[in-house]
Amino acid sequence: MTSLVDLTRDGVVAVITLNSPPVNALGAALRHGLQERLEEAIADDSVTVILITSSSSLFSAGADISEFSAGNFAAEPFLPVLLNQIEASPKLIVAAINGAAFGGGLEVALACHYRIALAGAKLGLPEVTLGIIPGAGGTQRLPRLAGPKTAVEMIASGKPVSAKQALASGIVDRLHEGDEDFLAAAVVYANQLLVEKAPLRTCADLTVDRSDLPDNYFNEFRQSIARKTKGYYAPERCIQAVEAACALPLKEGLKKEAELFQECMNTPEARAQQHMFFAERQCAGIPDIPKNTSLREIKTVGIIGAGTMGGGIAMNFINAGIPVRLLEVKQDALDRGLAAIQKNYDISVKRGRFTAEQVAERMALLQGTLSYQDLADVDLVIEAVFENMQLKQQIFAQLDEVCKPGAILASNTSTLDVDAIAAVTKRPEDVIGLHFFSPANVMRLLEIVRGEKTADDVVLTTLKMARTINKIGVVVGICFGFVGNRMLEPYMREAMRLVLEGATPEQVDGVLTKFGLAMGVLSMIDLAGNDVSHLVRESHREDIAHDPSYQLISDKLYELGRYGQKTGRGFYIYDGREKLADSEVDEMAKQVAAELGITRRSISDEEIFERCIFMLINEGADILNEGIALRSSDCDIVWVNGYGFPAFRGGPMQYADEIGLDKVLESINRYRTQLGDYGTMWFKPSPLLERLVAEEKKFGDI
Ligand code: 3HC
Ligand code: NAI
Repeated sequence: MTSLVDLTRDGVVAVITLNSPPVNALGAALRHGLQERLEEAIADDSVTVILITSSSSLFSAGADISEFSAGNFAAEPFLPVLLNQIEASPKLIVAAINGAAFGGGLEVALACHYRIALAGAKLGLPEVTLGIIPGAGGTQRLPRLAGPKTAVEMIASGKPVSAKQALASGIVDRLHEGDEDFLAAAVVYANQLLVEKAPLRTCADLTVDRSDLPDNYFNEFRQSIARKTKGYYAPERCIQAVEAACALPLKEGLKKEAELFQECMNTPEARAQQHMFFAERQCAGIPDIPKNTSLREIKTVGIIGAGTMGGGIAMNFINAGIPVRLLEVKQDALDRGLAAIQKNYDISVKRGRFTAEQVAERMALLQGTLSYQDLADVDLVIEAVFENMQLKQQIFAQLDEVCKPGAILASNTSTLDVDAIAAVTKRPEDVIGLHFFSPANVMRLLEIVRGEKTADDVVLTTLKMARTINKIGVVVGICFGFVGNRMLEPYMREAMRLVLEGATPEQVDGVLTKFGLAMGVLSMIDLAGNDVSHLVRESHREDIAHDPSYQLISDKLYELGRYGQKTGRGFYIYDGREKLADSEVDEMAKQVAAELGITRRSISDEEIFERCIFMLINEGADILNEGIALRSSDCDIVWVNGYGFPAFRGGPMQYADEIGLDKVLESINRYRTQLGDYGTMWFKPSPLLERLVAEEKKFGDI
């Protein structure tokens, strides 16, 4: 029987094999097993060299991240101590890196005396993406082996390198290419090291080679990543740790690393980023659908409508090697759609993302058509025509006639009822919403809208498909706006109301970007197009009719043809790439406020922040309460990946958990009274929020 860590022999070579699926996370049990096998091998006189490898397709994904919040990360044997033990071994230890070696996994390898890697392996220290720095010697050993430049780039970006790059930079000593068994090659390498009487090469004996390091290197590096890493805590600590490696002997450097690691671990940013790691993985599981449900195959895809969304959606599939048939009603619309896709790829070629050859391969997978007969044998159809129920129903009735049994019929609708679309077919179980975000070839989010009758295998198949096309699929229920756009409504409403009450668009957006949002909500409306949001308002006028001020400023801008960036004017004036304040918007706000009897006043940043963000959170709570979202972390995934909410805050729901739900509730109740009739109308705390506060719980607890 295999145990978590096996010890076998090949002559004088002891082979220690990590065997803890799925990813050899270095939790306490695996660390314990590794330590025991190591001690056994060291004590065995007939062993002269030790190999550490893994039985799966990856080497190790590093520390067990779940131990961080559980608080047992430091349980004995503590990883950094175990790695010091490896480094200090009196017998030669070789890491045989047979696949991905990430975080603590790579740190195990760095503590060994030599490293051989399989050509396809990837090596990296992605800790920064979890809001921390490598904490088991990575920041000190990597600069000693690869030099400070490579090290700081890898550590501060978290991006892995290929085994080939690792060889070139000195991280590994030998690359294994070709068909020969990797483990056998690693054993040969270990024996060769013995024959060569290779010394016990440890990082403790090495110093960081700073010979070609410019004086101001680290400060320049800091500046070069400053924009990208704004708001994140760990990147600066990654740099400080590598600086320490350059200045201190290993032992002291490790001490400094431990301090910085702990400092990072205690931050809200680390909690948020670790929350996102698990949130992303959790949304792949649907509690009421068995994991072993057999899936449908998606080998060919049909897309209806070659407009903004249809074209972007098509690119996702052809990028993944899946042939697409793109249907339009008229040849000129089809030609325009195909040309737009080609143009998009041409830009990618110019930017060096794809070669012309790769683009040609992709375009060869794309077939334009005007005939529904060409959709008869596709496995999945995604409809992306105008947002009009009648039109969509007509199309689905036609699909029902023509598509093969078992084909999945999906709509990219952003607001319409997927059940009503499914109802016109004789196979509502095959119908689902696939809500892509614009630009569809770029945005990672995909809301998978599960209808009342959608079959389980259709839900799981589309979730898997999301991964295939490099998206994060989040299963949501049916309501106006699903999860993302429904949460957007109150957030947008407050932003616009605040402009009427006396804030400027720059102040509102400034508060939101200062918090970390990629863009303020008013700038976002200008980007997406006020004509688009006008259509959304039109489609639910009756729901908002009781508030005459509701997004009225947007309606006024719409009437003036100020659709935002596309017309050069919206909440702001656009001069090329420059965005300027528009005094006419202030004037308009004053006038509307006077007409509605709204007293204008100076509004604090705090009020702007609380009203926008807390109402967003409150809507998330309602969505959860109604079962539209399965978990609060799904709302977080939607907002971080679809709306530019900062990952270092972990999404709105995690942020609320971090600051305390009682604070959010207290604030909402305060504005409810403070804002008079308007407050009473909109500031209604979600029953779920009230319940959780009463029970002293968090969103993450449910
Ligand atoms: N700790 C705990 N669980 C982990 C884990 C880790 N380091 N890495 C992956 N898992 C879990 C996932 O949560 C998932 O669990 P689930 O099936 O219950 O949802 C399962 O393993 C499979 O993971 P993926 O779905 O991500 O599998 P993939 O095959 O798509 O990807 C991977 C594999 C590329 C290794 C990816 O899992 C990954 O990137 N893992 C994290 C790597 C990382 O960040 N390592 C650094 C850890 S921190 C550290 O090492 C600190 C040290 O410096 C002290
Ligand atoms: P668009 O106007 O750019 O494209 C629609 C395309 O559908 C046009 O090319 C049109 O010729 C074609 N079309 C119309 N009737 C057709 C028919 N009967 N058969 C075949 N093709 C037909 O619209 P866009 O923005 O791509 O939106 C499409 C859908 O995606 C809508 O349901 C919209 O709500 C949704 N959506 C849009 C987002 C966006 O940001 N634009 C984001 C998410 C969803």
